[in-house]
Amino acid sequence: MFSARPPAKVNLTLEIVGRRPDGFHELRSVFLRVGGLSDRLSVSLGAANGTDTLRVDGLPGASASDNLVLRALELVRVNAGLALPALDLTLDKRIPVAAGMGGGSSDAAAALALARAAWGVSISRPTELKLAAALGSDVPFFVTESAAALVTGRGEEMSALPAIVGGAGLLLVTPAMSISTGSVFGRFDALTGAVEPGTATDELARELRSGIDGTRLAALAERLRDANHLWSASASLAPSLPALRERLEQATDRPWLLSGSGPTLFAIYPSAHEAGDAGRLIVARTDAADLLIHAADLTGPDPAWRYP
Ligand code: C5P
Repeated sequence: MFSARPPAKVNLTLEIVGRRPDGFHELRSVFLRVGGLSDRLSVSLGAANGTDTLRVDGLPGASASDNLVLRALELVRVNAGLALPALDLTLDKRIPVAAGMGGGSSDAAAALALARAAWGVSISRPTELKLAAALGSDVPFFVTESAAALVTGRGEEMSALPAIVGGAGLLLVTPAMSISTGSVFGRFDALTGAVEPGTATDELARELRSGIDGTRLAALAERLRDANHLWSASASLAPSLPALRERLEQATDRPWLLSGSGPTLFAIYPSAHEAGDAGRLIVARTDAADLLIHAADLTGPDPAWRYP
């Protein structure tokens, strides 16, 4: 059996700098890997002439029949051009589904690697990145296994950035709603005229290249708070999001950022321990029903604290 812990990501910035003829949007974004919140995926060889199977446990919302991990196996099989036996997969969902943390994309990247290992086939790095981009815009980031990256193009071009020195803690709050990425980009187009490129992504990438620690990253959060151009679109599809953000900012006295297309909101702390303390305070002082809360460090493997 082969197994992996596909990690989550957050977007520290997400600037939309153009619309493309292929219908996608041109991005400039800093992705940060969150090893402290990860799914579990395992693969074993199945029946010689059967079909691939997938069992999904854990958090709700992920499909067992129409899942990117199954598409990942199919791409590896087609690329190998060989009759390869079926694989049996088990996926334990711990990253909230359709929540802006890239869980499905990370699972797909892990499935590419596990299928390769289980079948003993080799795939060149450029081909693997091409297969990843065919699966989804966020998948190449997870294939590279970078701690952080400056991500451009549709999401498939990237340059690795160094890890946060000594790590950092994130407090991640996911309301009980899922929003599809496509619908948020669609709403962005409906709400926004000409796109206005910002400078937040390039400034942050410069900072990260100089090697910053968690305390410095937390201090930058004020500048990053409004560097996600999908905020208005996400809040328009999830109208309770602005009030939730206000409540979290009041309770913790720090800025909260939107990850990806949402609805996950997160705050940055110097350590996962401090993020956990803040999480306990939110649960004690506010109505946390319908919220999933994780305090995680960047390397993992499991959250330092979670609610419920
Ligand atoms: O690539 P992925 O399947 O994750 O994208 C989901 C949807 O999000 C796309 O169909 C597209 O509508 C939108 N999207 C976009 N521009 C991007 C990434 C995604 O418009 N750079």
